[in-house]
Amino acid sequence: MTSFFIFFFTITFFSVSVSSQLDEFTYNGFNDPKINISLSGVAQIDKNGILQLTYETTRLMGHSFFPSPLQFKNSTNGTAFSFSTCFAFVIVPEYPKLGGHGFAFTISPSQNFKSALPSQYLGMLNSTDVGNFSNHLFAVEFDTVQDFEFGDINDNHVGVDINSMVSNKSAAAAYFTDDSMKNDLNLKSGKPILAWIEYNSVTNVIDVTLSPSSTKPRLPLLSYQMDLSPIIEETMYVGFSASTGLLASSHYVLGWSFKMNGDANSLNLGSLPSLPGPKKKNKEAIITGSVLATVFVLTSIIFAFFLIRKIKNADKIEDWELEIGPHRYSYQELKQATRGFKDSELLGFGGFGRVYKGTLRNPRTEVAVKRISHESRQGVREFLSEISSIGRLRHRNLVQLLGWCRRGADLLLVYDFMPNGSLDKFLFDNPKSVLNWEQRFRIIKGVASGLLYLHEGYEQVVLHRDVKASNVLLDGELNGRVGDFGLARLYDHGSNPNTTRVVGTLGYLAPELPRTGRATTSSDVFAFGAMLLEVVCGRRPIEHKAGPEELVLVDWVWDHWRDGTIFNVVDQKLNGEFDRNEVVMVLKLGLMCSKNVPLARPTMRQLVSYLEGEAEISDILTSPGGGCGTSGVDGGFDDFLHSYASSSFEKTSSFTVMDKSFASVSTSPLALINSSGEAR
Ligand SMILES: *[C@@H]1O[C@H](CO)[C@@H](O)[C@H](O)[C@H]1NC(C)=O
Ligand SMILES: *[C@@H]1O[C@H](CO)[C@@H](O)[C@H](O)[C@H]1NC(C)=O
Ligand SMILES: *[C@@H]1O[C@H](CO)[C@@H](O)[C@H](O)[C@H]1NC(C)=O
Ligand SMILES: *[C@@H]1O[C@H](CO)[C@@H](O)[C@H](O)[C@H]1NC(C)=O
Ligand SMILES: *[C@@H]1O[C@H](CO)[C@@H](O)[C@H](O)[C@H]1NC(C)=O
Ligand SMILES: *[C@@H]1O[C@H](CO)[C@@H](O)[C@H](O)[C@H]1NC(C)=O
Repeated sequence: MTSFFIFFFTITFFSVSVSSQLDEFTYNGFNDPKINISLSGVAQIDKNGILQLTYETTRLMGHSFFPSPLQFKNSTNGTAFSFSTCFAFVIVPEYPKLGGHGFAFTISPSQNFKSALPSQYLGMLNSTDVGNFSNHLFAVEFDTVQDFEFGDINDNHVGVDINSMVSNKSAAAAYFTDDSMKNDLNLKSGKPILAWIEYNSVTNVIDVTLSPSSTKPRLPLLSYQMDLSPIIEETMYVGFSASTGLLASSHYVLGWSFKMNGDANSLNLGSLPSLPGPKKKNKEAIITGSVLATVFVLTSIIFAFFLIRKIKNADKIEDWELEIGPHRYSYQELKQATRGFKDSELLGFGGFGRVYKGTLRNPRTEVAVKRISHESRQGVREFLSEISSIGRLRHRNLVQLLGWCRRGADLLLVYDFMPNGSLDKFLFDNPKSVLNWEQRFRIIKGVASGLLYLHEGYEQVVLHRDVKASNVLLDGELNGRVGDFGLARLYDHGSNPNTTRVVGTLGYLAPELPRTGRATTSSDVFAFGAMLLEVVCGRRPIEHKAGPEELVLVDWVWDHWRDGTIFNVVDQKLNGEFDRNEVVMVLKLGLMCSKNVPLARPTMRQLVSYLEGEAEISDILTSPGGGCGTSGVDGGFDDFLHSYASSSFEKTSSFTVMDKSFASVSTSPLALINSSGEAR
């Protein structure tokens, strides 16, 4: 009997001490020196004992984890344990209504997030591992930016994420009161919010509950049934991951409790450290307050005086300019970054102006600064409203717009710097280095998914209007990224008759464009097709130096296709090293996109699924009645000829626009018509 009791007590004592060390913890604030928590990225414990994951600076990541891994599974039968956690957080955004980006409660096999990305990836994943089952990542995101790429429901939601940033289930932030009334909750209100996350290993249900007060609502905000056993590994780290993007917030955790196989201790908002908010009104505070206020008023007056002088001298910032979404840089900052727009920093001449390389300080970032001169005042305003919507477009295959600046008639657009420059530099003339087929194919797939996002991923359809190899930029890893998107349309807003408008580039212009003057997703597809052929053949769509039968790339490729000698068109520089199936597919798609009839061309969505091998291309192309072929292509040039001629009679605005764009391509239109005429 005695020995039984000793045995019993030993067991009980042992299990309690183990669990209190490893399976359970409660932190009412983080300033107790005994608290051992690991911090990485910009995460820190502030002097009030608050865990601060990020602060209000763009593109940061902050992580904080319980330092040792926890046993998350029964090692005998491999079933994930039940667990529960409770934490209090505060999100303080830089601008009251715009969050950036959010944070997540994270259960992960490692606490090394060096290869993760900030912004929409919340510091947990990157563009290559997102969605991969081998991540073994479970997270509950508290997301304050709506990312269309990941199908976010709004910019204030909670979601259960498994191995991916696409939530398995999400809900707009809210909480239930006892009478089951649902109340909206603003995650980025700057006020503390309590969150409970619970997993029951018997029912396999994950419950997420929110509340602005210390009492836990009876009803969870969202429940998701899923057995976590295949996701979770035997030992895992628990903690938090947060990131900022173009817009930034401070993400704070005030207190945190966790328990395996049981209910985590509840937290009381009243006994947690609080953020320094508005001062309490006692006598002392009032006196110090009024002294401070006087000093402040005096300083403000002096400051305002200088500011007014400065604005008068330099540039007037109008109210509406402050409302534009992406970051507004100061002119001085950009001038400094580009060393006064020195010629030595010039990266090139885009369709819309000069592009300079710049280095921003603090944080030190390399950027590309595009300088556009614009004279019409009205135009500038519309231009900027477009920029705010372009700034919201985010995709791994787009060159991200980071911000902008206006000074008088000059508009400066700040983009991510792309170290490898544009694709055309790798393809034509004497390329600086030759891309192998694998790299080319990856670039093609990247550009396709970037264009699909522009066409379908955003609130409104965004047409590129000038897809071509020189508008595809390559990042450090040679991923293709679409640049200059949205700008062609912007330029229509201005009304400066002296500016030559390039509404596309000869050789990439869909045949219907000169006739209708209206760009569509199909005309972008046409240009994408021309680009596909360029990448495979290493040739421009119209090669002036070539003989007449090789002048127009599509015709030349089609001739070889018909004659069964298709591999003759493949870039010689590849030395015959390529995947024949992929090359044939890309050429086929290039020809399909080059069809004369817009409706006969595939959509970007279809192109992406062909390229990703999700769908088979029908053999319609190989049959003579397929609507392509020499006659179809010739028809294209007939249209071209026709509209070129008729534009001198019809004085509609669209023709005027097109007329100018042709005029700007120097002598090529006439040269083209003449030589192709001779050739036939
Ligand atoms: C904190 O925990 C880690 C992992 O358990 C351990 O290696 C480290 O020595 C601890 N540090 C302190 C100060 O206790
Ligand atoms: C693990 O599972 C086995 C088999 O179902 C069971 O006997 C054992 O008690 C479990 N261990 C724990 C720690 O739950
Ligand atoms: C594993 O063991 C736990 C008890 O520890 C039990 O609840 C669970 O059903 C078991 N799972 C399997 C697959 O046997
Ligand atoms: C993404 O993260 C994985 C590790 O999770 C890493 O192996 C890979 O190299 C990363 N990819 C990039 C592009 O950084
Ligand atoms: C998932 O990740 C593993 C290991 O990092 C890698 O081998 C595999 O190719 C990845 N799968 C996909 C579909 O990216
Ligand atoms: C949900 O989670 C599973 C993991 O088991 C994953 O394979 C699946 O793609 C996810 N579904 C969605 C819609 O994200």
